[in-house]
Amino acid sequence: MGLATAADGADIERGKALYAQLCFNCHGPKLEGGQGPSLIDSYWQHGSSPDASLRVIDKGVPGSPMIPYENVFPEADRLALRDFILSEQVGLREVVRSVYPRSHFTTKRRVTQS
Ligand code: HEC
Repeated sequence: MGLATAADGADIERGKALYAQLCFNCHGPKLEGGQGPSLIDSYWQHGSSPDASLRVIDKGVPGSPMIPYENVFPEADRLALRDFILSEQVGLREVVRSVYPRSHFTTKRRVTQS
């Protein structure tokens, strides 16, 4: 269960510091997106699970500016980056959808129909 990997505050602070050194260049200072996609909306090109986000950070996206970071940062730092990103979410991720009953989202779905 992905949500069980909740990091403690220290890891998230570490991830935030690393993000501000590098990732912000492409994903925006507030993770809102830029050259790279927003990391706070509910749309995930490569999967919304915590594991999927970690996989992109580790392996990159071949043929895109998103390079693999597995040889750049030690694993603890990559986990901290992933957990920082998760801590900043403002949209609903699939993880959340899988936890709540479907009926919880029926009102929200109607909004997108217009
Ligand atoms: C040089 C620009 C650049 C930098 C620096 C960069 N990224 Fe990315 N990132 C991208 C692009 C472009 C994509 C989309 C790739 C694609 O799908 O074609 C992406 C995709 C991602 C995704 C997947 C998003 C999704 O919708 O599934 C994650 C997570 C991510 N980056 C995290 C990071 C983190 C963490 C860092 C810092 C270690 C970082 N990126 C640094 C350009 C960058």
